Order: sequence, then structure tokens, then C-alpha cells
Amino acid sequence: MPIIGRNYYLGSSGQRETFNDNKSAFRKIKIIPKVLRDVSKYCTKVTVLGTEIDYPIGFSPVGLLKLAHPEGDLALVAGLKNWNTILIMSSYATNTIEDVAERAKGSSLQLWMQTYFFKNFTTTMDIINRAEKNGFKALVVSADTNVNPTETCGARSGLVLPPDVEVINVGQNYKTAIASNATFNDIVYIRSRTRLPIVAKGILSASDAIRAIQAGASAILVSNHGGRQMDYSPATIDALPFIVDTVKEYYPHIEIYVDGGIRNGYDIYKALARGAKMVFLGRPSIWGIAFNGSSGVNQVMDIITSEFQEVMTLSGHTDPNQITRDSLLPQLPTF
Ligand SMILES: Cc1cc2nc3c(=O)[nH]c(=O)nc-3n(C[C@H](O)[C@H](O)[C@H](O)COP(=O)(O)O)c2cc1C
Repeated sequence: MPIIGRNYYLGSSGQRETFNDNKSAFRKIKIIPKVLRDVSKYCTKVTVLGTEIDYPIGFSPVGLLKLAHPEGDLALVAGLKNWNTILIMSSYATNTIEDVAERAKGSSLQLWMQTYFFKNFTTTMDIINRAEKNGFKALVVSADTNVNPTETCGARSGLVLPPDVEVINVGQNYKTAIASNATFNDIVYIRSRTRLPIVAKGILSASDAIRAIQAGASAILVSNHGGRQMDYSPATIDALPFIVDTVKEYYPHIEIYVDGGIRNGYDIYKALARGAKMVFLGRPSIWGIAFNGSSGVNQVMDIITSEFQEVMTLSGHTDPNQITRDSLLPQLPTF
């Protein structure tokens, strides 16, 4: 991979504490297997926002994918076309919304669209309207990006896009296009302008989750942007149970998802046990297409789904919904 892509993808903010914690926090959680359970028949499906998917595993939005592969998002879509899963397209994609939708047509893949709150509200609404028109099933609003932090490797090494890599749905001033004055009222406004369910992404506290739901979000994606926004914010797997406990008390029907540092079947199991309905992967999709284009991301999905299946059954469960907190050594983070 060219160094500029590698720096961008590996980049994270501040001292990289949150970036590192996302992964190391998973390693501290221990699994309590349930022995002598009949696991000869099992199912890995879950229902998310009313639609069944084959595994509780989807893909988070990642921008500038043409730095990893010349086809960008199209390689990702092609690699996932036989998987009944969810891909969230980034508003910082280097392919058009229409091209991505066209490539996904007739496949098992479900598309959701991510947007930031842009200074120019026409840009935000243009993305939402085009996603709606092209059959995207949900809108993911990134709530954690009112300020762009200094990135440890990406920005310091100076990210200048090559001429053939265009942030095509937003424009070349994409870095300065995001509004710094967005509030929960913007979710209220977007709620009134789209029929798509809204997923609030970048939530790390129970109180913000409740505010997002009250503003009109149908689901919460617990995320710290892969350690790329507020450094020293908690690992998402540690923030998750507090959010789940509060939201489930007041809004039991609201689904909660998580991303950040998820790299194998054990991580997925732990996220489900702490209350996530499903997980999303960020960087693994990039490594997949960089390694071998569409086949590479297909391979990522192959590996991670079979690992999850193995962990689920090895621990005595036959359905993702059976994986609850008593499937873990009982310990909660201490913050
Ligand atoms: C290179 C890169 C670009 C990203 N671009 C976006 C983006 O455009 N929109 C967004 O909401 N999140 C973006 N994210 C954050 C991811 O959606 C996700 O939250 C994060 O990568 C999950 O952590 P993981 O990479 O450890 O799996 C990006 C992450 C990376 C690594």
C-alpha cells in the first residue's frame, strides 16, 4: 500500500491511547463456556432494524478507499456481494453513491449511508436524498466529529490526495466542510427530512445515547471513530455496557451496535455478551481490499464469520441472542 494510504488508515488521534485501548480492552475480558450443551444445530442470524442478516457482523464507514485499492468502495461491494450483511458507505467515499448502489444491485448486501453534519446543509441533504433514492436502508449520522483532531500519522505526514482520488460526494474541501456547530437539534431536523431510520454513530455515554434517541435516532452505534477523535475516551467495549443498561431500561426496543478494535470471533462474542446487537468492523475491510481487492475482503468475512461460529458453539450457545453477560467472567470496567 502506498505510504500515504497506510498513514491515513493507521492514523489515530493524540497519543493513540484510545486506538490501542480499543483492542487491549477486549483481551482483558474472559469467557465462561457453558459445557454439555447440544450445539449440533445452531443459527448465527440476527434481525437488525427489522431485517434479518446472516451474522451479527457488518462494516463501518471508511473514507478514501481508493488509497487502498483502485476500485475503492466498489471492491468492497464486490467482495461482500454474496454476504447477507450490512456495509455502511462513508460520505468521504471516493466512488459515487449511485455507482456503489449499482454495484450492490441484485446482491445479498444491504447498504446504509453515513453522513457528517456539513456546514453547507445542502451537502448533507444531497447525500441523504441520493442514498434514499438509491435504495440505502438506513442513515448513519456521525455525531463525534464537530472538530477534526490532529492525527498521529495521517495529518503529520501531510495527506495530499493524488489527482485520481476524489472525495466525490462532498468535494475536495472535505476536511473543512464539516460543521462545528452541529447539535442534537440537527438530528431532529434530519429526522423530519428523511424516511430512513437514523443510527447515531460515535456515542460513548448513556446520556448522549438517550439524547440521540429523543432526537429521533432508531439505533445507537457505540464508537470512538477507531480512536480517531477524542483520545483518552474509553474503549468502546468498556463504554458499551453502561449505555446498554440505561437505554434498555428506558427504550428496550432500541438496538445498540458497537465498533472499534474488533478483529476476531472472540471480540464479537464479547461485544454481544455486553449487550451489542451486532458489531461493525472498520480497518479490517481496508486491509482486505489492500491485500487482494474484492477477494481479500471476502476472505476477511470468511475468516471472521467462521471464528465467530466456532466461539459461539464452543462456549455452548446456538444463537447469538443467547450470548448474554453471564457468558463472561463477571467483571465490569471501573470508571
Ligand atoms: C481510515 C479511516 C477512515 C474512516 N472514515 C470514516 C468516515 O468517513 N465516517 C465515519 O463515520 N467513520 C469513519 N471512520 C471510523 C470507522 O467508521 C469506525 O468507527 C472505526 O474504524 C472502527 O474501528 P476499527 O477500525 O478499530 O474497527 C474511519 C476510520 C478509519 C480507520
